[in-house]
Amino acid sequence: NEGSLWGGRFASGPSPELQELSRSTHFDWALALYDIAGSHAHAKALEAAGFLTADEAVAMHRGLDRLAARVQDGTLVAQPGDEDVHGALEQALIAEVGPELGGKLRAGRSRNDQIATLTRMYLLDHSRTIARDVLRLIDAITVQAEANEHAIMPGRTHLQHAQPILLAHHLQAHAWPLVRDLERLRDWSARASVSPYGGGALAGSSLGLDPALVARELGLSRPAENSIDGTAARDVVAEFAYIAAQIGIDVSRFAEDVIIWNTREFGFVTLDDGYSTGSSIMPQKKNPDIAELARGKAGRLIGDLAGLLATLKGLPLAYNRDLQEDKEPVFDAVATLEVLLPAFAGMVATLRFDTGRMAALAPEGFSLATDVADWLVRRGVPFRDAHEVSGALVRACEQRGIGLEDASDELLAEVSPLLDPSVRDVLTIEGSVASRSGAGGTAPVRVAEQRAELIARSQGA
Ligand code: ARG
Repeated sequence: NEGSLWGGRFASGPSPELQELSRSTHFDWALALYDIAGSHAHAKALEAAGFLTADEAVAMHRGLDRLAARVQDGTLVAQPGDEDVHGALEQALIAEVGPELGGKLRAGRSRNDQIATLTRMYLLDHSRTIARDVLRLIDAITVQAEANEHAIMPGRTHLQHAQPILLAHHLQAHAWPLVRDLERLRDWSARASVSPYGGGALAGSSLGLDPALVARELGLSRPAENSIDGTAARDVVAEFAYIAAQIGIDVSRFAEDVIIWNTREFGFVTLDDGYSTGSSIMPQKKNPDIAELARGKAGRLIGDLAGLLATLKGLPLAYNRDLQEDKEPVFDAVATLEVLLPAFAGMVATLRFDTGRMAALAPEGFSLATDVADWLVRRGVPFRDAHEVSGALVRACEQRGIGLEDASDELLAEVSPLLDPSVRDVLTIEGSVASRSGAGGTAPVRVAEQRAELIARSQGA
């Protein structure tokens, strides 16, 4: 059983079927450079504990550097007989520095503590790329919000006209969840920056190796407190998958707005040609595929999280081979976000808004009825009565096929003695929007303040 990491007690090598099932190199090769970084750190710990002479350590580091160079230029790849990235790299190291020295590196470590550490390193690195991409998307949103600062649109609840709002307010409402996602990534990083290296298979090392040295070398903040937890826990991986899914969901909700706004019936936005697609049969089509893919990818990201959680549920301590199934879902989540976010940000940055149409539709559907009620409240009418009066005015206007602002002096008087022509002061979309100046409201001053806060928070995260 030449080349295996565990041949000694076996009379025969693994069956081909087992090899097929067990092999993980087609995905865990993504960890090869992290594995080599771990080996450099581990060699230092072995040298510090007296298991490698200074000369041996130098030869070991040189050999590992050569492996890293070959991984990077693609000349070192896993062989069909390799079970996983760890075994493949040990074989390659032995070929590089000889069996005598190459065989010493495995002392005091196990693939269990290695894989737990390398997965964290991989996710921490990619979390930085994802955070950068989320930040770029937030930037694209705030730039659009500022460029369309004065645009007013129909605000909706239940997808029905509710109250007029600033387009910038709505756009910024899509940015805040992304800011919280950035903050989630930052909080998660602090928890993830722990090194299980040195925990061995589960019970810790007997060789007096310094796990803090290894953690430091790998850029992680500290060693795991418990070697069993360090090698067997995957909540940090699941938490990453949750954040990835949440980002997917937040982008998907924005995508759904874009898809609706882009319909002929709404006509609120035009997509840039570079960020939309055509149809193979209908020459006139221009489709919002980026937004649709965002919606679709959100389902995939939820699947990655759900699959991972299902793997973890009910797993006894400590390491079980099921845990090998943790990597493909999060690798997929990373790859998904890394292609989705830049495309989505590009689409957002190049959206063109038909602000005239949005403003024209904003007062439709009696969306200023709440302003009439608030006007009455400001004159001392209890809200319960104000709601009734405003509702009666809506009904009267609906029967006549007119808008609230078109009600004559006579009609106002007929509906209620509490109404008079000065109510028309609040029956403009600009007046309505400006009046909502409470904290977090849609008034232009509040929305501009909010944007400054949004930018500051996103840059701090
Ligand atoms: N490939 C395994 C994983 O991804 C790590 C190796 C541990 N294997 C073992 N038989 N203990 O989790």
